[in-house]
Amino acid sequence: MTIDTPDPQAVCSPITSSAIFIVATLNAGTDAEARVKGWCGDLAGLVRSVGKRVPAGNLSCICGFSSSAWDRLFGSPRPASLHPFREFGGAGRHAPATPGDLLLHIRADQMDLCFELATQIMIALGDAVTVVDEVQGFRYFDMRSIIGFVDGTENPVGRKAVNFTIVGDEDPDFSGGSYVLVQKYLHNMNAWNELSVEAQERVIGRKKLSDIELDETVKPSNSHSALTTITTAQGEEVKILRDNMPFGRPGAGEFGTFFIGYARSAEPMEQMLENMFVGKPPGNYDRLLDFSTAVTGGLFFVPSADLLEELADR
Ligand code: HEM
Repeated sequence: MTIDTPDPQAVCSPITSSAIFIVATLNAGTDAEARVKGWCGDLAGLVRSVGKRVPAGNLSCICGFSSSAWDRLFGSPRPASLHPFREFGGAGRHAPATPGDLLLHIRADQMDLCFELATQIMIALGDAVTVVDEVQGFRYFDMRSIIGFVDGTENPVGRKAVNFTIVGDEDPDFSGGSYVLVQKYLHNMNAWNELSVEAQERVIGRKKLSDIELDETVKPSNSHSALTTITTAQGEEVKILRDNMPFGRPGAGEFGTFFIGYARSAEPMEQMLENMFVGKPPGNYDRLLDFSTAVTGGLFFVPSADLLEELADR
């Protein structure tokens, strides 16, 4: 990214303690299209108005569009790596594609900020969209996922985070943008908790208490960490930026992870999903999936903050 690159949305903002994830479909009709487009120019102002009230609350909102929503709202040119979510796996171990045209990733260090911004955004979008999934995520102790392991350790930071997530010269019309992949997972906590801590550590590939990576000589090839570590043909590691959040309703027996990953193209995230669901080599699938079921799946393009404003007039 150079100094001339448009400002990205808040993709590389620090992880917060609260988040709301909203996936919505675009309703039929040109009125709905016009309203969503107009809202693209208003979103930054809404975030400023709500966020200014608690400056230390780190409120941000990222907005992404699905492939079909992009075509319908903005047409050509279109982001090079944007396509419908690719499904992976089959019966028993499946990453399904589910409906969704618009993704909102609202983050703050206080849930009231997320809640207020989500409320204002829904008022602004009105009957132009139908919300098909809404998840409130929370920080669980020392950055743990709901299955008890620290989540996010291997995320790139600083300049590396930007390099791995923000589109550059490879797609000049869309530089400053990013791709985001989301999946909602539900965990079978009874089965998970029946495993010993050592067995769980072999599933993840890290120590549970200390979060230290298992030595390569003992880390199973079907561990989550082994299958999501990917490299280029030249042997360089390719990272993505994850901001997963636990969610759930203990009274209903629901325990979940909202997976959200950002990258410079869809390809690395799809490679990881293939390794997890199909296996590497095929059949050597991610053991975490024996305890986790993906119930949603969507791929979205996040335009730069500058382009998002311009899209209002396209
Ligand atoms: C069932 C939902 C998931 C849970 C609970 C989960 C949890 C974890 C945990 C605990 C770690 C180890 C610590 C860390 O580096 O963050 C990890 C690592 C990682 N996960 Fe996941 N994850 C999930 C789904 C996914 C998916 C769907 C992808 C990719 C599409 C993914 C990509 C990664 C990557 C890239 C790493 C770092 C690997 C490394 O460099 O060692 N995860 N995940």
